[in-house]
Amino acid sequence: MRIVKQLQELNDALAFESKRSIGFVPTMGFLHDGHRSLINASKKRADFTVVSIFINPTQFNNPSDLKNYPVSLKQDLIILEKEDVDLVFCPDFDNLYKNEKLVEIPLGTLDSVLEAKKRKGHFHGVIRVVNLFFKLINPNYAFFGEKDYQQYLIINQLTKIVFPQIEIIMCPTHREQSGLAMSSRNSRLSSEDFDRSIEIYKVLIFCKKNFDFSNRVELEKICLKKLSKFSKPEYFEIRHSDDLLNNGGKLKIWRAFAATNLGDIRLIDNIALN
Ligand code: PAF
Repeated sequence: MRIVKQLQELNDALAFESKRSIGFVPTMGFLHDGHRSLINASKKRADFTVVSIFINPTQFNNPSDLKNYPVSLKQDLIILEKEDVDLVFCPDFDNLYKNEKLVEIPLGTLDSVLEAKKRKGHFHGVIRVVNLFFKLINPNYAFFGEKDYQQYLIINQLTKIVFPQIEIIMCPTHREQSGLAMSSRNSRLSSEDFDRSIEIYKVLIFCKKNFDFSNRVELEKICLKKLSKFSKPEYFEIRHSDDLLNNGGKLKIWRAFAATNLGDIRLIDNIALN
């Protein structure tokens, strides 16, 4: 496994791979089984797998969230070596951003609801860093988790406009046995909050079981109330899977989205409803 920090080094390493397909898994480190499943998907699909580890400051709307974001580079590299990843890219901020050319892409509703509404500027930071990575790595495939479904839709939009040659692959949410969606942030939950967090998935399952086009507004309210019994919810919303609008007809594909706080840890999750 090759570990690369400099852009030039990355360029040189990838030049050797020009005849092989490249799979790319972007991460912010503190790797868990969810990341492992993205890596496995890449290894199945591509000849050469690149994983990036970079905590991207431009996507943090809350400075204390950035300050407290868990770091474990040494442990991450052990995991990646075990997973037989071909190349790990861990740039530093100045180096990565030094020649940045900002991209503007139309996002419509994607940029004004759910996470975009609650975390102002977050997705702009995600677009900036993924745009830089895609330019540098130019993978054939890039892998993103379903847990961050809105991020997946936004990256799809970036790709459609700027990188049509890259295929974006969404991998199913990896869950703890309890059902809690895996996230690097879970490591910061107290053991009581970890136990309580199990309820988030239960509320999503309840929503799926009871979903019906005509009762969705009522169901949102019931689920929000259920979340507030054990946590401090920010939203529980049922929206279209493709554009995140909520005003379409019966035949639309729907998905439920939740964001809630346990202590000072903010967790998100979502589920396909039909
Ligand atoms: O999903 C994440 O971990 C991050 O948003 C990503 C895609 C690595 C960009 O920093």
